[in-house]
Amino acid sequence: MITLGIETSCDETGVALYDDERGVLGETLHSQVDLHALYGGVVPELASRDHVRRLLPLLREALDRAHCTLADVDRIAYTRGPGLAGALLVGASVASGLGLALGKPVVGIHHLEGHLLSPLLATPRPDFPFVALLVSGGHTQLMAVEGVGRYRLLGESVDDAAGEAFDKTATLLGLGYPGGPALARLADHGNPARHAFPRPLKASGKLDFSFSGLKTAALHCVRGRTLSDAEKADVAASFQAAVVDVLAAKCLLALERTGYARLVVAGGVGANRALRERLVRETLAAGATAHFPPVALCTDNGAMIAFAAALKAESGTPVEHGFAVKPRWALSEA
Ligand code: KG4
Ligand code: ZN
Repeated sequence: MITLGIETSCDETGVALYDDERGVLGETLHSQVDLHALYGGVVPELASRDHVRRLLPLLREALDRAHCTLADVDRIAYTRGPGLAGALLVGASVASGLGLALGKPVVGIHHLEGHLLSPLLATPRPDFPFVALLVSGGHTQLMAVEGVGRYRLLGESVDDAAGEAFDKTATLLGLGYPGGPALARLADHGNPARHAFPRPLKASGKLDFSFSGLKTAALHCVRGRTLSDAEKADVAASFQAAVVDVLAAKCLLALERTGYARLVVAGGVGANRALRERLVRETLAAGATAHFPPVALCTDNGAMIAFAAALKAESGTPVEHGFAVKPRWALSEA
């Protein structure tokens, strides 16, 4: 079975073809980062219009790369939510139009379920059950995952998401938007012990997160000062160390509480090297293992949407068919 996956929930247009036996056959991705950089954040109307412009050319290119035609597609999956309403509507419309024209089923996928299952695209593929850390620009959640469609929320951010805190701190340091990856690169040259930034909720005994106080601490540290490049690198490194420290502590606590032996990490911040290294080291010391999707699949992409639809079909998990978008949608209700 070949599944076509379409992702348009925010500022990336992603298309991929996934085959149950051969894996990802071909994929294309366009990031709108340059389009929104001027405004310091995603402008929803510009995002929708760009998805309209890009989606069909990206689809043709993905089919070429997969050496497929539309006639080979057995199922069409698109991101139904959560995300920007206008952006989601573009993917939903194209998927539904294709489904009608080809007479093939159309499935709406939860964006976070796509992220959550994407580490299963890695080799070796982790077995269920596992603890999943979802760390993106919009979400920071710990989930107990017992199988496809069997997710239990263990804890989440009570304010900013980890990626959002990275982006806002990067803006403070003049690193542009989205600054997470740039902040991480700068942190490589800084001293993580230079600033003792807070570790919010680290010792709370709960699995919830809070990052807005940390971001404010970084603000107080840089406000009204002109920083040298070396000083900026120290702020970046100290900030990253605080985020990684809190994320790692909560992951270990979640493993302990669930008794699971596997941790999977998904979402854009999962591309962060310091976080990966720390989690690999600490899970190993705790007798567990850490699994990550390939770096290219950490951020938004069409492959994770196609893959989630294929796994749901294979496991007989209920799916939502037809045309709809859900800009706000809890994973527990998916
Ligand atoms: O999953 P994603 O592509 O989109 C959402 O669904 O939000 O995640 C994007 C987020 C952004 O906040 C970005 O700055 C962050 O992931 N990010 C990183 C890194 N790469 C991406 N944060 C820290 N270190 C990185 N290497
Ligand atoms: Zn995402």
